[in-house]
Amino acid sequence: MADHGIMDVWHYNHPTHIIFHTGAMKRIARVLESQNLDGGVLVSTPHFVKNGYAQAVLDHSEGRILTVFSDVEPNPTVHNVDACAKVLRETGAKFVIALGGGSVIDCAKAAATVCTTNDSIRVYHGTGVELPETHLPLICVPTTAGTGSEVTAVSVLSDPELDKKAPISSKNFYPTYAIIDAELTFSVPARVTAITGFDVLCHAMEAFWNVDHQPICDALGEYALGKVFENLRTAVAHGNDSHARERMAEASVIAGLAFNRTKTTSAHACSYPLTSMFHIPHGEACAMTIDHFLRINKSCQDGRLEKLAKRMFFSSVDAMADDITAMKQEFGLRTDLKDFHVDRKTLDELVAACHHPNMLLNPVEITDEMLYDMFGKMI
Ligand SMILES: NC(=O)c1ccc[n+]([C@@H]2O[C@H](COP(=O)([O-])OP(=O)(O)OC[C@H]3O[C@@H](n4cnc5c(N)ncnc54)[C@H](O)[C@@H]3O)[C@@H](O)[C@H]2O)c1
Ligand SMILES: [Zn+2]
Repeated sequence: MADHGIMDVWHYNHPTHIIFHTGAMKRIARVLESQNLDGGVLVSTPHFVKNGYAQAVLDHSEGRILTVFSDVEPNPTVHNVDACAKVLRETGAKFVIALGGGSVIDCAKAAATVCTTNDSIRVYHGTGVELPETHLPLICVPTTAGTGSEVTAVSVLSDPELDKKAPISSKNFYPTYAIIDAELTFSVPARVTAITGFDVLCHAMEAFWNVDHQPICDALGEYALGKVFENLRTAVAHGNDSHARERMAEASVIAGLAFNRTKTTSAHACSYPLTSMFHIPHGEACAMTIDHFLRINKSCQDGRLEKLAKRMFFSSVDAMADDITAMKQEFGLRTDLKDFHVDRKTLDELVAACHHPNMLLNPVEITDEMLYDMFGKMI
């Protein structure tokens, strides 16, 4: 580490080809043709089958897609992945297209790899067993501006029987193509826009202050954060504002590129148990703690968050944190855990479960005492 907290030695590469263009979905046939892909499976949800988006992908693919697998739940489970992999094996799929939010993309990523074995994804989920290097080519068409999963090497899966939600990372998971068509996000309801937009904010912020931050991720994180502060309120209030939707789609993929290299930190570490214990959606779970950690981290890394706040047009880190808190309230996002009547035993479980390895990437050491203090005020 150099004096100002910037790594002296760093590298950056990205294997996913990104197309960002409103209306890009119509170009799918060209992408498939350029990659010589034929005989694929479309992975999506019943929502996109019903609203016609899945059919539009089939039409634009000009006969190159064999069938649609649509049994993916929000916070996809190991069972969704196994069922999807089964269809991929049975149809002899040659590639996979994921059309949906992070849940669909994460399911498709894991299925596109595990289908090359006869295993359940459970063999690899949180067990430390390495995935095989074989996988089907994957094309991701995100419909939310949130996870950035279309450019990351991560798949976040839940195992309902073990009450476990955990990410698996593998370089196999890099999509071959990410086709970002902001028009697909226009139909996202205001509440989901707010939740997914907060996920972008947390990816950008956590990449920026990460102990492993480096110049390219700093630049990407800062750019994405600026777009969120400028556009999220408008995207939530006016879902048909194409400028705000496009800028949020841009922020989402750029924040994905930022945190893919650094990984996430404290807010994401806490989000996993908040989702698995209380079923709080991912972005909302991250949003619950991000302003608290911003205040804890504010003086870290030689004051670079203070400079970031000024470049974001705030007078101080505290003013930036206040604006984040205000946005959560304006959007009606959850700011406490009162509904869940959390007792001492549950609080102990929550604090223990927050010590996900990503917590160690926070620039300030997060102690149990800090977590008890933060969650103590929420219960
Ligand atoms: N792989 C990664 O890098 C990464 C990063 C962050 C989060 N995640 C994971 O991604 C998942 C969350 O993904 P998400 O936030 O995109 O939400 P999601 O995919 O779960 O979708 C949320 C809801 O919005 C609906 N929806 C999606 N697109 C829509 C559209 N265009 N119009 C109307 N409704 C639409 C979905 O049907 C669903 O009900 C979580 O499991 C989270 O842990 C993954
Ligand atoms: Zn996230």
